[in-house]
Amino acid sequence: MNEILFDIKNLSFSFDKKKVLNSLSLNITKADFLSIIGPNGGGKTTLVKCLIRIYKPPIGTILLNNIPLEKISQKELAKQISYVPQISENNFPFTAKEFLMLARYPHLSRFTSISANDKKAVTEAFDITNTNHLSDRHMNTLSGGEKQMIFIAAALAQGGDVIILDEPATFLDPKHEHDIYKILRKIHLQKKKTIVSVTHNINSAILYSDKIAILKNGEIDFYGNSDQVTKDGILEKTYDKKFTFIKHPSCNKSIIVPEVIQ
Ligand SMILES: Nc1ncnc2c1ncn2[C@@H]1O[C@H](COP(=O)(O)OP(=O)(O)O)[C@@H](O)[C@H]1O
Ligand SMILES: [Mg+2]
Repeated sequence: MNEILFDIKNLSFSFDKKKVLNSLSLNITKADFLSIIGPNGGGKTTLVKCLIRIYKPPIGTILLNNIPLEKISQKELAKQISYVPQISENNFPFTAKEFLMLARYPHLSRFTSISANDKKAVTEAFDITNTNHLSDRHMNTLSGGEKQMIFIAAALAQGGDVIILDEPATFLDPKHEHDIYKILRKIHLQKKKTIVSVTHNINSAILYSDKIAILKNGEIDFYGNSDQVTKDGILEKTYDKKFTFIKHPSCNKSIIVPEVIQ
């Protein structure tokens, strides 16, 4: 039995009077690759922002390694968890290398300069993500795919065991999308990192993650092994739409094929 990393219990959260998370409970297991899927507006981004304390829900509890999240300082939390937000335009006036160095901030104190450890973490992160060639490029000159890979490299350089990503590949072409998942899988398998990835790409969730959670109307509608999500009309109920599945020729998992529109 794997250890629980996040123990989320009865979490409720509202914007003004609109309830977005509704007594939500979920356990996230250490060293799992979990995908969170579900309809737009279901509360996925709000949930992950609660996990990294951008939002502090007034009702319910989140334990990280058995410690209530509010007892952990932002800096300590940043040592454990990296967050890759939804792809956004940015005009960071840094090179990729400077951006990765900045990601080391949880490890720096006001009185110490960059250590050999920091430099090693940055070098390793460039190596793992195959982005060495981008290190001297300015962030605002990178393509969407390159920028996203640098964000993942920065998440790695930050040094924690958990990486949370919000729609990491939504606007990317198939090659860059595949590259992102390949790297996430590598980090997960080789570095034993816990990956929590919010995505609309259900096939990627089925093929690359261990577990899937479905978040709908602020509640977890389904949680289980990723290959279970195509069974029992689960997706049909979630999205109120028909799905057609085929067996993937290489791994025999059921995946979705697009509907033909007559
Ligand atoms: N900062 C905000 N202020 C007001 N409403 C918000 C804010 N952020 C999100 N919402 C609302 O909360 C609901 C859930 O949003 P979100 O968590 O972004 O969903 P998802 O990521 O699943 O698409 C939506 O109805 C959205 O409009
Ligand atoms: Mg979202």
